[in-house]
Amino acid sequence: MARIFVIANQKGGVGKTTTSVNLAAALARLGQRTLLVDLDPQGNATMGSGIDKRSLKRTVYQVLIGLSDVVEATCQAPGSDYAVLPANRELAGAEVELVDFDERETRLKDALAAVDDQYDFVLIDCPPSLSLLTLNGFCAAHGVIIPMQCEYFALEGLSDLVNTIKKIHANFNTELKIIGLLRVMFDPRVTLSQQVSAQLEQHFGDKVFGTIIPRNVRLAEAPSYGLPGVVFDPQSKGAKAYMAFGAELIERMKNLAPAHEGPRRDAAPDAATPPRAGADPARPGDAARPGDRESNEPGATR
Ligand SMILES: Nc1ncnc2c1ncn2[C@@H]1O[C@H](COP(=O)(O)OP(=O)(O)OP(=O)(O)O)[C@@H](O)[C@H]1O
Ligand SMILES: [Mg+2]
Repeated sequence: MARIFVIANQKGGVGKTTTSVNLAAALARLGQRTLLVDLDPQGNATMGSGIDKRSLKRTVYQVLIGLSDVVEATCQAPGSDYAVLPANRELAGAEVELVDFDERETRLKDALAAVDDQYDFVLIDCPPSLSLLTLNGFCAAHGVIIPMQCEYFALEGLSDLVNTIKKIHANFNTELKIIGLLRVMFDPRVTLSQQVSAQLEQHFGDKVFGTIIPRNVRLAEAPSYGLPGVVFDPQSKGAKAYMAFGAELIERMKNLAPAHEGPRRDAAPDAATPPRAGADPARPGDAARPGDRESNEPGATR
């Protein structure tokens, strides 16, 4: 039975797609049968996997509106060992068209059921909003992986996201839980990054993944070659971090109940409300200001 995880954060540009693509490639390298679902009309995960989104006859759009099954629309990522259910701008139309469908929020879940025994992991890359598409991602998933940058506004957004996940858990998907928070684009030279990171660890405990993804230029360059960073430059710091994250996720799964068992119907999604942004964990009344961020902008490292 596949573990289905949605990679979500309603904030834009926080590393959702980079995490989806590289985690898919890392899991595949670690021997896991992996499907990456691109649920974003931007089609970045599709292009970043080396698939030309403009030349596709079938995508997740046709799957959602019932004109294709998952197998027909799935292709292999060239140069990597994972499968992709791709997307392009046509998917934006699904938002409007799905409104007329019954059970419109479970279209993806129902479609993925047909390939459940073919994969160990299904990763869903979401757009940066809470749309009907994202809701389909949340309803199809057993868990949420939240990539986040350790900066002031990220914590504010996290609070909204945790509340959204709680509502979805209560109203649509009682299986949904937060698998973990992944610190991405991390630059240890920025003091605020370290503070926010420590705060996350203190508040969320083991819900924060031990692996930290550094800011790394090879990860940013890889999509223009149509490859995940993990494949493009396996020796880069970013690639090694995503490989370590893949291994950590597999390890973490061993401690979770099998996907099909699911939690009690009344169980909470395992999410605490995050701390106020920038507050000093040692002093509950303290709060940092956005201007506290150091002036040394993160540099690219290999
Ligand atoms: N660890 C990293 N180091 C350096 N650059 C990164 C890293 N992670 C992501 N990036 C770059 O940051 C930008 C945003 O990343 P990405 O597209 O993954 O974010 P996203 O959350 O999917 O964005 P959107 O909300 O638009 O879907 C991209 O240019 C990407 O190459
Ligand atoms: Mg994206």
